[in-house]
Order: sequence, then structure tokens, then C-alpha cells
Amino acid sequence: MKVLGLTCGRKMSNTEIVVKEALMGAEEMGASVEIVRLMDLDIKPCTGCNACVIDLFEKGGSGDCVIKNDDFKFIDDKILDCDGIIVGTPIYEKTPQGLLKCLNDRMGPSHDLAFRMIAKKIRAEKGITKGKGPDERSFKPHVASLFAVGGSDWTTLALPLLQIFALPMNMTVVDQQLFNWTALPSTVVLKDEMLKRARRSGRHVAETLKKPIEEAAYIGPKGVCPVCHCDVIELGKTGDKAVCAVCGVKGTLNTTGADYALAVTEDDWAHSHVLLSGKFKHGEELKTRSLKPDPRMKEIPLLIEKYKSYLTYSRPETAVK
Ligand SMILES: Cc1cc2nc3c(=O)[nH]c(=O)nc-3n(C[C@H](O)[C@H](O)[C@H](O)COP(=O)(O)O)c2cc1C
Repeated sequence: MKVLGLTCGRKMSNTEIVVKEALMGAEEMGASVEIVRLMDLDIKPCTGCNACVIDLFEKGGSGDCVIKNDDFKFIDDKILDCDGIIVGTPIYEKTPQGLLKCLNDRMGPSHDLAFRMIAKKIRAEKGITKGKGPDERSFKPHVASLFAVGGSDWTTLALPLLQIFALPMNMTVVDQQLFNWTALPSTVVLKDEMLKRARRSGRHVAETLKKPIEEAAYIGPKGVCPVCHCDVIELGKTGDKAVCAVCGVKGTLNTTGADYALAVTEDDWAHSHVLLSGKFKHGEELKTRSLKPDPRMKEIPLLIEKYKSYLTYSRPETAVK
């Protein structure tokens, strides 16, 4: 049972300390542990080429990213290999550290569990034996605990975006925790309650890994969304229904005093993006709607001509041409 700590903050500062505390908890429960500092890695941004999705959907391929001149393969291997992961990020501008978003984009569509299952099926049905199929480690359960460390309580989008990091691979999020008012370097070591909370989380991840994944229990704050426990809800987008910002589930927002809860029907529940059923629905939408060629496709080269010839890019002198 392998538990990976992925920390995105300053060296030996607050995020790293709570992640290490959680790893100590996991180790206490028998896990083998390892830590990676995201800032040690060179992760290039996704270029939007879609080669990963095309490879999965059209060739039953691996969906591997075509960018090879960075450390993505290193971290991809670590994440696929582990059974549990503790992801910790400092909060910058109410959101996780930016490099994590780069990693999320690189691991998004290419690692979507439903897309990889579709690729595996295509491979089997068409009897494809050439080239690589999706990595088998994509299909094993991954358990996650998510930490966000902030210097204040300006934290709104931190945990939701961490959840979105866990979403494509269908990680089972068993805990999420904000550590607020912890701005100065390493000061979290003075906060016993936070250290205890982090250690409890790591212990819980390891304990969860000893049981069948169906028995995984969530120990974080309840949240408004009953499916993913997110607190950020969009209003006024789909008629009278409210939408969870993380898992996209629709429901009716009810209030009881100061408490808010999203009431979700069984049918809507199945469409949540954190569930495999929701991921397959999204895969179908991509095939039948968003990636479906437009009948006027042939007109595009002519129509974009005026944008191509309009302006030249302003770039620093040192930019690669
Ligand atoms: C660019 C930047 C933006 C920040 N924005 C926020 C913020 O929106 N909310 C917050 O609570 N803390 C914010 N902080 C404070 C950090 O989250 C805090 O110092 C945290 O302890 C950093 O984690 P570390 O010690 O592990 O590096 C910001 C810090 C930086 C450098």
C-alpha cells in the first residue's frame, strides 16, 4: 500500500509540513510513503492539441501526452503507481498553486477513467495489439485526501479546484481540509490542532486502503453538495436548478436556518462528474456533440484567413520563433 504526498508550497513550509504529518499518519498505519514537491518539477502547460483524446477514442491507444521534454512522465508514473495520495497546496488568489492547474490539464481528458475504459474496449473489440493501450494502473482505485493552506480565510475556490484535480482519474476523495490563517513560513508547527487533523487524514487514507473501495468513508466537512461535498454552487444557469461547481450535479438548493443543502434526484445524481456514469455521459456528449464535425467544416480555411492575416504577435526578443 503506497501513499504519495504531492506538495505544492514552499520548501519545508506549511503545506509541506501538513502533507508530511499526514504521511507520518499513513506510515503509522502500515503504508509505504513518498513525497514529491511539485515545484521541483518542470511541468509544461497543455497545448490543447487533443492528441491524447484522439488516441484514446480513435485508436484505443494509451492517451499518453505527446509533450516529452519535461517531468510529466515522472509525476504521472508516481500518481498512477500509488494507491493513496495526499495533495497539499498553498492557496494563491483563493485557488491552488498554478502549477497544479497545469498538471490537472495534462492529466484531465487524457486520464479520464471513462475515456480510458472506452479505449480499452475499442482495443478489445477491434483486436488491436499494436502500440500501447491505456496504462493498467489507471483502472485501480486511488484514494485521495486534499489539503489547502491559506494565510487568511480567502479560500473559496481552493478545495473545489483540488477536487477537480482528483476528478478525471476517479480518485475517491475521503477527506478535504482547509488550514486557514497560516501565512508565515512553517508556522503551522505551532498549531497542534492542525497537525493532529493532518495526521488523522493520513491515517484514514491508509485505513481506507485496507478495505474494499466501496467501503470508503468520507471524513471531511459535509459541504452543500451531497455527492462531492463542495460548497460552491452556481445559480441561475439551468432554470430553477442549482449546479455544483465541482461535480456539475443539478439540484434544488434548500435552506434550513443558516444551513444550505442541495437536494438531488436519483436521475440527476447519476450525472455527477465524479461518478463513472457522469463521465461516460460526458464522453458521449463529446463524441456526439462537441467533437462532431460541423457540416460546414470545409468553409473554415477561407473564413479564418482574415484573422490569420490580422496583426502579428508581440513577443519578447528572446521568444522562440
Ligand atoms: C501569490 C500569493 C497569493 C496568496 N493568496 C492567498 C489567498 O488568496 N488566500 C489565502 O488565504 N492566502 C493566500 N496567500 C498566503 C499563502 O497561502 C500562505 O502563506 C501559505 O502558508 C503558503 O503555503 P506554504 O507556507 O506551504 O508555502 C497567498 C500567498 C501568495 C504568495
